Amino acid sequence: MSRKPIIAANWKMNIGPAEGAAFIAEFKKLTDCSFSCDTVIVPPFTTIPAVLDALGECKCVGIGAQNVSQFDNGAYTGEISTSMLNELGLQYVVLGHSERRQYFGETDAIINAKIKKSIAAGIIPIFCIGETKDERLGGQLETVLDTQVKGGLEGLSADEVANLVIAYEPVWAIGTGLTATSKEAQEAHAFIRQLISNVFGADAAAKVRIQYGGSVNPGNVDELLAQPDIDGALVGGASLKPDSFATLVKAAK
Ligand code: 13P
Repeated sequence: MSRKPIIAANWKMNIGPAEGAAFIAEFKKLTDCSFSCDTVIVPPFTTIPAVLDALGECKCVGIGAQNVSQFDNGAYTGEISTSMLNELGLQYVVLGHSERRQYFGETDAIINAKIKKSIAAGIIPIFCIGETKDERLGGQLETVLDTQVKGGLEGLSADEVANLVIAYEPVWAIGTGLTATSKEAQEAHAFIRQLISNVFGADAAAKVRIQYGGSVNPGNVDELLAQPDIDGALVGGASLKPDSFATLVKAAK
């Protein structure tokens, strides 16, 4: 089964509206809006309208949100609903990122509720999982991934799982310059795909795209993407400059 690669830029709490618009203008020039992978940019909420404006008619990049509420519109100060993302026409939402788990107390159950809400709204979740350094060193890698996958995807159908995106991001590799070796990454991806097969069936496992994230850069992207179970990348630091992100997108064939 061949899966189309998907490269996503997670800007985190970086890049305001003016810089976001300038980024898109430069990125379009550098790539001619032509590449053979699915490309996604995930700006901070307040930057999204400027990025959509700068893209204009060009649909070469899908835009995502970095979070969404599990609740419908109402009295939830500081939250953003799926219907608000729909109103902007957003296609993706990043959920379960380790920074949300670590700093904002998001549990597998909350992430599961957000994933279901997003799918119901027609928005594709980019569902992040990954172990800490202590968990890996303590031999907990497989248990952690098993708990996160089963908790985050509980109650979903095989079809729903086939159509979302999973991002394996070892926490110790995020923003540290330490990348999992391509062998370590491939082993974790193969384990995740087998888990999906066990719970949701071989067809969902063959279809679901699994991105690697954690210090991906123009120097290591080729080797990572060459692995059979790595279907793309979720990129933080190296996605903040148009030339570097353009290089990553061109690497994915
Ligand atoms: P870095 O690429 O900066 O390590 O961040 C990875 C990440 O967390 C993407 O979601």
